[in-house]
Amino acid sequence: MGKKIFSGVQPTGNLHLGNYLGAIKNFVDLNNDNENKCIFCVVDLHAITVKQDPKELKNNIRETVATFVASGIDHKKSVIFNQSKVPAHAEGAWILSCVARMGWLNRMTQFKEKAGKDKEKASIGLYSYPILMAADILLYDATHVPVGEDQKQHLELCRDIAQKFNNDFKIDNFLQVPEPLIQKEFSRIMSLKDGSKKMSKSELSDLSRINLTDSKDEMINKIKKAKTDSLPIPETIGELDKRLEAKNLIGIYASLTNSTLDKSLEIFVGKNFSEFKEKLSQVLVAKIDPISLEIKKLLNDKSYLDQILLEGVEKADLIASNKIKKIKEIIGF
Ligand code: TYM
Repeated sequence: MGKKIFSGVQPTGNLHLGNYLGAIKNFVDLNNDNENKCIFCVVDLHAITVKQDPKELKNNIRETVATFVASGIDHKKSVIFNQSKVPAHAEGAWILSCVARMGWLNRMTQFKEKAGKDKEKASIGLYSYPILMAADILLYDATHVPVGEDQKQHLELCRDIAQKFNNDFKIDNFLQVPEPLIQKEFSRIMSLKDGSKKMSKSELSDLSRINLTDSKDEMINKIKKAKTDSLPIPETIGELDKRLEAKNLIGIYASLTNSTLDKSLEIFVGKNFSEFKEKLSQVLVAKIDPISLEIKKLLNDKSYLDQILLEGVEKADLIASNKIKKIKEIIGF
């Protein structure tokens, strides 16, 4: 049976290979399956949980749409829209914040990481952000949510919120409890400079990530400078597990070629990293450079990108405003 897919990406600039391999590539496959109904959201309300420059935010919203389209999401088949234009998201987040428990939110590891040492100075929005994410998903009765591994805990919270709402108001299955869709092998792409940290847009060093708008030369240079070790490529995943940077690069190769770690090891066993990196650069450029060029091309046509959002907002609003109306009736408003 077809799935109802919902996922979101923050428009905070520097969308990178982690976003692509962990999430967007999966969106494209789901979009290509005609049985599915897919909704992809540019989550601009989430973006302002940390300080944003208004002009840049506007550009980044368009760039995220351009990235979706350039990666192969068909906006005629899937809904692409931005969260702030559909009021039900903010309303839903408030209502669900009265369902979610402090204890649940206090366990969220991403808040702890993002807020860092100075928790007192973090915005309230950064703290309650997973509740807004739950509203996003639940307003559309999503059955499946494709995300990278770092969002797994937020998805579990969303499931808890849905179940508590259904229990509190004694209506079975009113809020659909969604399933996460997290890839087995490549759900966490790591920094090119430190295999213990995830690839991230907020990392200071640009050499730590491949941006989806990098030029060919930038990509090749970053792979050349990526951290590795001096040993040749091993035979088994067991041996690779102890070598974080090596495992990450081989994982990236496997994901880009739609293969597995095992099969990629078979190709490169015994070889040294300089040889492997050349091959990796080739597949990386072959896959990402056309996307990068297309993003740049699309960004020249702002009215086209705005039109995609406008059409998406209309479709999303129809679904979400209907659901929030029912939620309000159930609550007694
Ligand atoms: P965001 O914008 O941080 O990331 C977008 C998607 O990219 C994935 N991702 C990664 N995957 C693998 N390796 C990495 N290094 C890596 N970095 C990022 C993320 O897991 C995500 O799938 N809260 C979400 C956005 C959101 C959302 C939603 C997602 C808001 N509402 C509803 C699903 C459903 C976020 O900040 O993702």
